[in-house]
Amino acid sequence: MTASTSHLIAPHGGNLINLIAEGERSAELKTQSREWPSWDLTARQLCDLELLMSGGFSPLKGFMTKADYEGVCHNMRLTNGVLWPMPITLDVKEEFAKTLTAGSSKIALRDPEGVMLAVLHVEEVWQPDRKAEAEAVFKTTSKLHPGADYLLNKSNPWYVGGRLEGIQLPSHYDFRSLRLSPPEVRSEFARLGWRRVVAFQTRNPMHRAHVELTFRAAKQVEANLLIQPVVGMTKPGDVDYFTRVRCYQLLLSKFPAGTVKLSLLPLAMRMGGPREAIWHALIRKNHGVTHFIVGRDHAGPGKDETGKPFYGPYEAQELFQKHEADIGVTMVPFNMMVYLEDQDQYVPDNEVKNGARVLNISGTELRARLNTGRDIPGWFTYPEVVQELRRSFPPRHKQGLTIFFTGLSGSGKSTIANVLMTKFLETGGRPVTILDGDLVRKHLSSELGFSKEHRDINIRRIGYVASEITKNGGIAICAPIAPYDSVRKQVRSMIEPVGGFILVHVATPVETCEQRDRKGLYAKARAGIIKEFTGISDPYEEPKDAEVVINTADLSPEEAAQEIILHLEREGFIGVNGNHG
Ligand code: PPS
Repeated sequence: MTASTSHLIAPHGGNLINLIAEGERSAELKTQSREWPSWDLTARQLCDLELLMSGGFSPLKGFMTKADYEGVCHNMRLTNGVLWPMPITLDVKEEFAKTLTAGSSKIALRDPEGVMLAVLHVEEVWQPDRKAEAEAVFKTTSKLHPGADYLLNKSNPWYVGGRLEGIQLPSHYDFRSLRLSPPEVRSEFARLGWRRVVAFQTRNPMHRAHVELTFRAAKQVEANLLIQPVVGMTKPGDVDYFTRVRCYQLLLSKFPAGTVKLSLLPLAMRMGGPREAIWHALIRKNHGVTHFIVGRDHAGPGKDETGKPFYGPYEAQELFQKHEADIGVTMVPFNMMVYLEDQDQYVPDNEVKNGARVLNISGTELRARLNTGRDIPGWFTYPEVVQELRRSFPPRHKQGLTIFFTGLSGSGKSTIANVLMTKFLETGGRPVTILDGDLVRKHLSSELGFSKEHRDINIRRIGYVASEITKNGGIAICAPIAPYDSVRKQVRSMIEPVGGFILVHVATPVETCEQRDRKGLYAKARAGIIKEFTGISDPYEEPKDAEVVINTADLSPEEAAQEIILHLEREGFIGVNGNHG
């Protein structure tokens, strides 16, 4: 039995949009789609499409056409006058755009597996001025702003606008009971008898400050609470949503029974600060929410190149207030909550008396404490949440790591790498894999030569395998020449988000390598029998970012391995008593 939802707040623009075609129409579209071009949706487009189809983006009925897009960019309004702060566009490659005819083409929009999710009736195809869009929407073109960076450096240069007909929503297999569409959330509110609901948007784990804040907000406006975290795309570097959702679930028991509900939102955030706050509220309104919490620096993208925040801490609240009537959702503004040690309670920072001692732990400090296994105090968060976070973010001595050697042929990389592996095996705990230059060229890269292009492919392959090993808690020891700086940096950036990365430069001078010439390769290189030989007829770019530099003229292989172990110990990658497991 479904309770009527007509008494709840009206969706934005009046009607809750549902773009999913009914049974027969859906079958008909699938049959016709054989003739149509297909577009494989990007991760962001998949999120946008889901919210378009389910009504989360009501009153939008498709990807924006040019006039709506321009209106939204420059006036925050659709052509029909309705307030809408964020462009929702389908960006495609130029070659694809050139195959389309405005007014007649239809596109089959597909998920990464090739399943058709929707049909786009192409009304307009155009090349937008993405720089102007970034300036208008984000007020910046800086690469450090995730939304502007995506727009200018990752999105495709042509836009296609038009009406959508949905076939099916994207499939999700995780947390299914928490993934409620706008009509489902509305039905739930009706069933529970909730009419006044305040929503809390988040992309971070919640701690005591957030619980205090949301509870205060709910009491203040006498409403029930909807915690609706984003599980689509958030800011790069954020805690993964699987971990976050497990933490949110643990927190529900901290609220009075029956006053709070958790539901997940498949939104792709833009980190657009003030405009994004309004957008978030409109999406919540479509879910039946009447009040929306806007805190300090809502959907903040961080700082620009000069260290200045892109938006003022309360700019989102100001813009929201200006448009509150059009938004139709009441803002519940909040300052930052801080902990008053003397009173053992959280208060908004504007209520703190001069001289009172306040405590706070930043996200960066929390990460550092998790990395080192240091205490996370009870005033900051709950023990169950700490336990859950520690499961996903173990201390460094339990994380995986990659030790990446670089150096000339014959510099001693393999010998040191093998000694190091033996030491790790002796201690035990983490599985160890060696990815030696010669071994990789035999098993992974047998078709590659030694041009820059081929060497870079080879190093990227090593980096990929090492990142998988690291992610899964193992130790990868890589020992290629890796003569080029930029690809070494690429590998570092692949691995650092999932564990440790230690670059070891085996800095044996080319003269010494040539003198040793263990494989006779230098002689061949000098004779021109081997071309493009590193150090002789091919470049080697010395790293400036190596964590450890080893000169094999001064150190034996065992001493060199010891240097690396000492570095790992200092950085916390090897635990006390040599226990690295
Ligand atoms: S790279 O640049 O990182 O992709 O090189 P790598 O995969 O480590 O391969 C280096 C080994 O290949 C042999 N070899 C050469 N090295 C350098 N330049 C040229 N032209 C070349 N041709 C063959 C050499 O045995 C290297 O092994 P190591 O263990 O470094 O001596």
